[in-house]
Amino acid sequence: MRLTGKGIFGPSSDRAEAIATLCRCLDLEVNLIDTAESYGPHVSEELIAEALFPYPATLVIATKGGLDRPGPDQWVTNGRPERLRAGLDGSLRRLKLERIDLYQLHRIDPAVPEEEQFAFLQSVQREGKVRHIGLSEVSVAQIQRAGKFFEVASVQNRYNLVDREWEPVLDYCDREGIGFIPWFPLQAGDVGREGPGYYPRLVRQFANRNTSIARIAKRYGATPAQIALAWLLRRSAVMLPIPGTSNRRHLEENVAAAGIELSREDVVTLSQKPLADPA
Ligand SMILES: NC(=O)c1ccc[n+]([C@@H]2O[C@H](COP(=O)([O-])OP(=O)(O)OC[C@H]3O[C@@H](n4cnc5c(N)ncnc54)[C@H](OP(=O)(O)O)[C@@H]3O)[C@@H](O)[C@H]2O)c1
Repeated sequence: MRLTGKGIFGPSSDRAEAIATLCRCLDLEVNLIDTAESYGPHVSEELIAEALFPYPATLVIATKGGLDRPGPDQWVTNGRPERLRAGLDGSLRRLKLERIDLYQLHRIDPAVPEEEQFAFLQSVQREGKVRHIGLSEVSVAQIQRAGKFFEVASVQNRYNLVDREWEPVLDYCDREGIGFIPWFPLQAGDVGREGPGYYPRLVRQFANRNTSIARIAKRYGATPAQIALAWLLRRSAVMLPIPGTSNRRHLEENVAAAGIELSREDVVTLSQKPLADPA
């Protein structure tokens, strides 16, 4: 979700729409909402509880810990176990939960031995504060090392139609039956990643009618954003897309993408790199 102010900091500029968007998730039978202590910080978790508590039994709220937020667009990794524990306890309190269904380590902190961070996750699972454990922005080797401490239920790495750097991790998750949660599924706001090999934002390409994605979208009577999501869902059975949005119209569009059955031929076309000329 995108429920905070600019730079994923502070309150939303349209709080009523953020709450209405969350409520609409339930009508549309959305069963996974991804958030984090650091979104706001705290804003996103608080809004989720305000809009949706008591939660339906079918809804999984996945949250994350391990990042400090000194200001807008600033993310500081902090994997010290005492900080992780304070973060988890705060998430439980804000979400009004006794146990978090999916708790993800937002980043492995390179300044803290990873065994300490994994041992923390193992201990809170044993304490019953966390049901399943996930990791974010990790390599196959890191997943395997974490697997010595707990079962890795999910991996949340950056992945979308035009950014497939983490393809080997997706393939590993697919083989091992680990949920793969692609962040930036619509490649929005790719701040700081511009450089050699950088593709223009996928959402910006949506305006260009000469791309293969736009031509395919037209044939399905869909938007290019929907085609990007439908392609993700066709890519792997372990794929769990979490498109971020702050409004009901995009939410409805994104959920409807799950009903688009892309043909094999279109999947092949979309899977070719590069997808399109830069807009
Ligand atoms: N693990 C990590 O390190 C990490 C990092 C970043 C994000 N995440 C997670 O991943 C989720 C998704 O990432 P994200 O929100 O940064 O990027 P995203 O899903 O790729 O893109 C969201 C952007 O696309 C727009 N959008 C959404 N639906 C659209 C549609 N149907 N048509 C056109 N534009 C559309 C949204 O604007 P509107 O608000 O106007 O809809 C928003 O600006 C986040 O909500 C967060 O939970 C995780």
